[in-house]
Amino acid sequence: MADEQAPISTSRLAAENAYRKRQGLPPLTMDEYAAQLSGAAPATTPAGSQTKAAVPPPVPQAPASTAVPDPTNAPPAPAPSGAPVQKLSASRFASENAYRKKMGMPLLTPEEAGLVPAGDAPAAPAPPAPAAPGTPKPAAPAPRPAAGATQPPPSAAATVARGTTANTYVGTPAVGTSKAAAAGGLSSVGPRNLEIDRTRRRLVWSAIVAFLAAWLLAFFRFFLPRTLFEPSTVFKVGYPSDYAIGVDTKWQAQYRIWVDRTPDRLFVIYARCTHLGCTPDWKPAENKFKCPCHGSGYDSEGVNFEGPAPRPMDRAHIELDPTGQIVVDTSRLFQWPKGVPYETSDFNKPNSFLSV
Ligand code: FES
Repeated sequence: MADEQAPISTSRLAAENAYRKRQGLPPLTMDEYAAQLSGAAPATTPAGSQTKAAVPPPVPQAPASTAVPDPTNAPPAPAPSGAPVQKLSASRFASENAYRKKMGMPLLTPEEAGLVPAGDAPAAPAPPAPAAPGTPKPAAPAPRPAAGATQPPPSAAATVARGTTANTYVGTPAVGTSKAAAAGGLSSVGPRNLEIDRTRRRLVWSAIVAFLAAWLLAFFRFFLPRTLFEPSTVFKVGYPSDYAIGVDTKWQAQYRIWVDRTPDRLFVIYARCTHLGCTPDWKPAENKFKCPCHGSGYDSEGVNFEGPAPRPMDRAHIELDPTGQIVVDTSRLFQWPKGVPYETSDFNKPNSFLSV
C-alpha cells in the first residue's frame, strides 16, 4: 500500500511538522516522513534527526504483547484494532477517517470510534487476526491521536514555542492564508495580479489629476471679473415710417421701451414705473399703461393719472442716424418732475422726441 501513495509535497511535510511541533514531537525530514508513511519506520523515531538533543528517545520496537510504553516520551499508540479508541463525535470520526484514508491507514469503524455499542455495530470488515505471542508487531504509520487521548508531555522547546504561529495553524490552508506554511519556510502568498495593481494605480492617479484640475480651474476663475453683460444702451429701432399712431410694444422684451407716435411727434417711453420701478403693462383695450405692482396708471403717452406713481414715465434720448433710422439711447433719459409745467419740462427738449 505504501507504494501506491502519492508523492509527498513540502506543504504536507510542513503541516505534519507543525502538527508534531504542537504535540512536542521532533520534526521529520522528508525521508523520515516518507519512511513513516510507507511503514518502514516508526512514527516518532527521529533516525538521523538533527535535533537529537530535544528529541525524546526512540521507542524500541517490541512485540505488541510485551511493549511497555513510556508515558512521558512514547508517541501516541494506534488504537487496538477492534476495540473502541474512545468515544468520538460523528464529525471527529469523519475527519479522523479522512486523515487515515489520505495517509493510507486502515479506517476506524464506528464501533472502534465508540459511535455504536460493540454488540450493535453493523457488519464490519473482520479485524485483522491478533498477532501471535512473541511475534513482533509490524511497524505501522503513527495515526493522529484521537481527541482526548493521553498525550506525552511536551518538551521544553515545545512548551516555549506553544502558542506561536506554527502551533496555532495546522493543515494546508488556502494560498495566502497559511501562517503555518510560512512558519515552515514555505511561501504562502500567491502570484501578484499585476493587472489589478495597474487598475488600482490608474484609479488613484485619475482621482489625483481630477482633483488638481478642479482646483486649478477654481484658482484661475478667481481672476475673472464677476460682471453681468447687459445689452448695449444704444440701439436702432428702424425708421419713423415703420410706426403707426399709437403705442408699439415690439421692443419691450428686448430693450424695455415702447415707441409711441402721436399725430405730430414720435418719442420712446422707458418702460419703468416711476413709483418703485416695476414694468407696467400696455392695455390697448383701455388705452393706458397699468403697473401690476401697486396699480399706478399712465395714459397712452406715459403720463400718470392714478396710483402712487409720482410723475410720468421717463423718455429715452432719440435721434436719426445718417440713413434716417431712429437711434435710441436709454442711458440718457428725460423726466417730467411733479409740479413742473410741461412746457419747461425735459419732454420739450430736443432729442426727447422726433417731429413727424
Ligand atoms: Fe408701479 Fe408701484 S411700482 S405702482
